[in-house]
Formats: sequence, C-alpha cells, structure tokens
Amino acid sequence: MTLTGKTLDEDVKLVKKYEKYIDLVELRVDYLNEDEQLYARRFPSMIYQPCILTIRRDVDGGLFSGGEFARTNLFGRALAFANPDKAKNFAFVDFEDDFHIPSIQDAAMAFGVRIIRSYHNMTDPVLNIRERCDIMRKTGYEIPKIAFMPHSLSDVLNLFKEGERMTQYDHILCAMGPLGFPSRILASYTNSFLTYVSPSEGIEHTKSIGHIDPIMINDLYHFKSINQDTQLYGISGWPLVKTSSPEIHNKGYENKALNALYLPFRSPLISDTLSFCEKIGVRGLSVTIPHKESVLYYLHEQSPEVAQIGACNTIVRKNNKWLGYNTDATGFRRALEEFLGGVKLKHKKVSVIGAGGAAKAIIYTLKLMGAKVCIFNRTVETAAKLADKYGFSYCELSPHCVSKLNEYSTLIVQTTSVGMNSEGPSSSENDPIYFYDFKGSEMVFDIVYEPSVTPIMKRAAIAGCKVCNGYKMLEYQGFEQFKLFTGLDYE
Ligand code: ATR
Repeated sequence: MTLTGKTLDEDVKLVKKYEKYIDLVELRVDYLNEDEQLYARRFPSMIYQPCILTIRRDVDGGLFSGGEFARTNLFGRALAFANPDKAKNFAFVDFEDDFHIPSIQDAAMAFGVRIIRSYHNMTDPVLNIRERCDIMRKTGYEIPKIAFMPHSLSDVLNLFKEGERMTQYDHILCAMGPLGFPSRILASYTNSFLTYVSPSEGIEHTKSIGHIDPIMINDLYHFKSINQDTQLYGISGWPLVKTSSPEIHNKGYENKALNALYLPFRSPLISDTLSFCEKIGVRGLSVTIPHKESVLYYLHEQSPEVAQIGACNTIVRKNNKWLGYNTDATGFRRALEEFLGGVKLKHKKVSVIGAGGAAKAIIYTLKLMGAKVCIFNRTVETAAKLADKYGFSYCELSPHCVSKLNEYSTLIVQTTSVGMNSEGPSSSENDPIYFYDFKGSEMVFDIVYEPSVTPIMKRAAIAGCKVCNGYKMLEYQGFEQFKLFTGLDYE
C-alpha cells in the first residue's frame, strides 16, 4: 500500500487501519512535509509491516523537485544507522534506473535492504520489458520494476506475454491508467512480486495511474485467491468510470464457491478488448457503452434477440468463437414490470429518450408488451430508423418536442447517459428533457443507476411522479449473464 500522507503519524494511522488487507507498505517520502522528510528513518520502527523507501521525482510521477543532491542526502539519512533488529529498517528501497550512487547502494546492500530498480514512463509504453529488466539487474539481486502508460490493450498484452515468461527472478510490472487496470489485478499472471494499492484517503493521488484501495482489491477482486485456474470474466466499455457489475458477478461466484473473477477491461476499441481477452483466456464479457452495437461485427453467432434488436450486451467465448446474447431486454422487462406493479402497457403511450444500444433492447421489449412508443433522440435520423422498424413514432429531442412528450406520457423511459454521475440540480447538461414540465401522473424509469437519483428523477419525483432508477435492470440483466457465463442460477 502506497502511503502519501503529509506526516509520518498520518501514514502510521493508515497502516493500522488497513493492516489486515496488506503485506507491505511504500513510504512515499516525496509526499511528506519537508521537515518530516528528514525523519523518514524512524518510520519502519513505527509500524509492524515491511516497508519500501521511495523518494519519487516529478519526472517519474512523484512530487520531489529538490534536485539529486538533496534526494541523495535524504536516501542517506533514511538508510543510515541500521538497527540490529531488521524489522526496524526499511526492507526495500526504490532507486530509479538512472540513480547510481555507489555509496548509498553499498549501504543498502550491507544492511540487507533489497533494491527495487525502477523505470517509469508516464506517457508511453515499454515494449522490450524482459530485456530491459535483465539489464536493470546490475548486481543480480535487485528487483527490476517497470511501470508504463499503455496506448492500447495490445501494449498491456505485451506486458502479460513478457511477464509470463519471467520466472527466474523477482520483478514488478505494471501498466498504468485505465487501460492498464488488468495488469494490477492479474499481477500473478505476469509473475509480479507485488501490486500497488492506495488507501481511499490518498487515492486521489494515484487514481489516474490505476490504483484501487486495499479493501476493494481483497473483498471485491479476491486478489490473493487468483491463480492460473481462475476463470476470467469481465466488462468491456469506455470510459467505464464507475460500474457495479463487478460487485454483482463476483458476489455470485463467491456464493457458488466458484474460482472465478470478473473485472473491467477498459478500451475505446472493442476489437482491442476482444483480442486482449482472447489471449488471456477470458470466457465471457458484459458489453456496455459504447460497444453494444460495434461488437456485432466481431460475433461468430448471434442469439435471435441480438439479431432482432441489433445490439448485444453479453458475449461468451466457446470453441474459439464469440457468441452474442442480449440480456438487457429481459432484465429491463423484469425490472419494469416490478415498477409498474400491475399496470399494463398494452395500447398505452410511452416515450423513450435516446436511441442507442440500450434503447434498442428497451424498444424491442416495449413492442412485445404492446405499448405505443414515441422515440426521442438528439440525432433524429437514428430515432426515425428505429421507429420505422417497429411502426412507432419519433421526434427530435429538443424543446420543440414538448407536446409529443405530453401525449406519450404514461411512462417515460430515459436511456441516454446524460444524467450519469451527475449529482447537481436538473439542467440542460444533466437532464435530457429539462424543458418538459412533469404533470405528476407520468411514471419515469431511468436506466442510469449512478447516482441512484438522477437529476431527471429528482425533478419528476418532486412533481409527484413515480420514479425508478436502473439498478434493478442492471441486476436482472446481470443475473442472466451469470447463467450464460457459468451455467448456474444466480438467485
Ligand atoms: P448505449 O449503448 O448505452 O445505449 P450509446 O449507444 O452510445 O449507449 O447511446 C447513447 C444514447 O444517448 C444515444 O441515443 C445518444 O444520442 P445520439 O444518437 O444523438 O448520439 C444519447 N446521448 C448521448 N449524449 C447525449 C447528450 N448530451 N444529449 C442528448 N442525447 C445524448
């Protein structure tokens, strides 16, 4: 666990709090107040965990900008006066690949402090990983570390391929940023000596490079139980900032005692995700924004629902083929019927806001339920095409559509991402029908679930409408995915 507190006491408190989730801590001296930096030497004796000493320079993603002379001095102070009790010394020290001060290195080695020899590239991938690690092990007993920023999942795949073959010595490999996330959770696949996490109190400092907190890596991703037999599943999307799907699926595996893991594979390109997942042996994926339609091109087989709907949210790998399913339709139907509580939609007028991948499954379901639908979309051509397919009405999503909305107002289903992650009051930015005044009789179903009350839901509820978010739909479509992935019932 990386410690980025301003004082040693602050860091000690964090170590105590997360003690049972971690095996090793990294004291980032570059985050300490200047006067505290002088006393870094004391830190190992203040905690009961082995500790890495790191003073990261700004060029390598750290905060230290005091120059190499000052940094060398700090290393000297922190490593000097070794205690006969080894637990009171730093167990590891992180020296960058271009830091070579023989006296400091000799001191570290004489006191039994293991050297992590690190190379960071904050903007570009490193490709010749194995060769570079071999060269970095100058003394033959250092632990080489390479951390880089991938440009695509193929850069991450290269790290997996190289790391998989590196079994001769301890090393640390990580791909940073949202694309690199699988390399942190699947560190055992690259034979990595450790993976870095950050306490939630300091996560803002390291979130952009892909750290998660120690509780999440243990309780949600079961990091220490991952092995070569673990069956891998996941979710493909971009930017996929927040998703509750790992909670749903991993809980299911836990309940059924399956050695399986579900994690996010973020990429703006579905083709990139698919080739990465094929190579590392992923057996099934949930597919979300913006890939639900583009994934169709890569499917070897489509279920009848996928063919009819024209969008796919679930893919399963069988016999080297991707099979596509759509569980959005049935998940939506189950959640909607619970919400309607007996109200039948046959011949009722319903508005659907949006015409993307999720809307396609919803419109298909509303057709099956006998509703009369009007589709409202920013790009009116997309709405027209969908409406034509089902014999429904359509309208451009703009203040001019108010009377149409009024007419189709038994139920309003919101399918765009406009209110996602938006906590503020309703505005043209976060409420796709900000110009529409609710009468209070409409039922409003928003498929967004984060936040749990979206700006449009809040406004509708104040007007007296019955409202529902997308969490139940997410759960129900997830339960069906679970069945497709594992062959077992979730509930
Ligand atoms: P999903 O697969 O989850 O449905 P999608 O296919 O990317 O995601 O569809 C997103 C939907 O949200 C589309 O209807 C999109 O409208 P356009 O077809 O005009 O792109 C709609 N959408 C996204 N951002 C929007 C915005 N700022 N205002 C209005 N509609 C928006």
